Amino acid sequence: MAQQKTILRALAGETLPTPPIWMMRQAGRYLPEYKATRAQAGDFLSLCYNPELAAEVTLQPIRRYGFDAAILFADILLLPQALGAELWFVTGEGPRLTPITTADELAELKIVDDIHETLRPVYETVQILSRELPAETTLIGFAGAPWTVATYMIAGRGTPDQGPAHALKAENRPVFEGIIHRLTEATIEYLSMQIQAGAEVVKLFDSWAGSLQRDDFTEFSIHPMQRITHAINDRHPGIPVIVFPRGADHRYAGVHRATGANCVALDDGIDAAWAAEHVQIDGCVQGNLASSHMVTGGQALVDETKRICDAFRKGPHIFNLGHGITPDANPDHVQLMIDTVRGS
Ligand code: CP3
Repeated sequence: MAQQKTILRALAGETLPTPPIWMMRQAGRYLPEYKATRAQAGDFLSLCYNPELAAEVTLQPIRRYGFDAAILFADILLLPQALGAELWFVTGEGPRLTPITTADELAELKIVDDIHETLRPVYETVQILSRELPAETTLIGFAGAPWTVATYMIAGRGTPDQGPAHALKAENRPVFEGIIHRLTEATIEYLSMQIQAGAEVVKLFDSWAGSLQRDDFTEFSIHPMQRITHAINDRHPGIPVIVFPRGADHRYAGVHRATGANCVALDDGIDAAWAAEHVQIDGCVQGNLASSHMVTGGQALVDETKRICDAFRKGPHIFNLGHGITPDANPDHVQLMIDTVRGS
């Protein structure tokens, strides 16, 4: 039964005549119905921790567009919050956390067994979704990859160049490695609970992988994602893993083999023809239309969508954007992308 789902077939390595499609941040501020539910919840974090409403916003883009996958509505920064960092969002600016940069602050974080207390509502959201989603729609759970989550935990906010995390790595390696290790262990437990609640696929977002140079890329992006993927494979055989080392550039080649992931998500900096030759040869790829097309639309959107589908048509492919859709996107352009992919 499960293998009928197009996303699961692509993740199992099948080449489909029409690639299945979903979109990063598909539940988001470009949709009026999302904004209405978010207003009802009060703020973004209250929405994340309200299972009924979080399930509702997850379902909205499925109802409107019939995407082949739904991604759990939550945020990668809920995990550091569950470990004891304070988290809040400043309107118009983004996330803030109490920074963790010393051995004492690291020692004060909660143990991994204690994260579930905070994260229980997220597991409930997954349970609701696995009951309510249409039979053909795949439910994707997710977490941030350790390096990306660490960049926010160490700086206490988003940063253009991940400077504070790079500085801690250079100046206090044991604390930096301790944070990565704690996040790796916690992520395994977090994803494992999402799978037990009904997630059929899990995805690791390493949005800042591109700022890691040379050996650091292997050690702090690839290795933690590999550990997590292997642990998920051991505990939950048959659950596919998608990894997204955004900005990896030519280092995208070999990521399937290095991590053990079933699928590698490509950002829009990567040429699809190059990726077909160097990445898709190892397994399923996901991507990689620039999200700016969701703002501008028109013939350029159609041409670029077709070019990407053509480049990947000889192997397993899940159509997606190269990064999350932005709040200024036009919902009609999303429909145009879907119609183009599905050939209608
Ligand atoms: O893809 C999905 O729709 C699933 C849900 C999801 C969200 N964030 C919802 C969200 C996922 C998978 C994420 C991942 C995430 N969160 C990442 C990695 C992926 C990426 O985009 O690079 C990162 C770095 C974060 C941290 C985060 N969350 C930031 C920096 C921000 C603020 C930026 C902004 O656009 O304001 C968020 C907020 C956030 N997470 C929103 C959504 C829908 C916007 C919240 C709102 O309604 O105001």
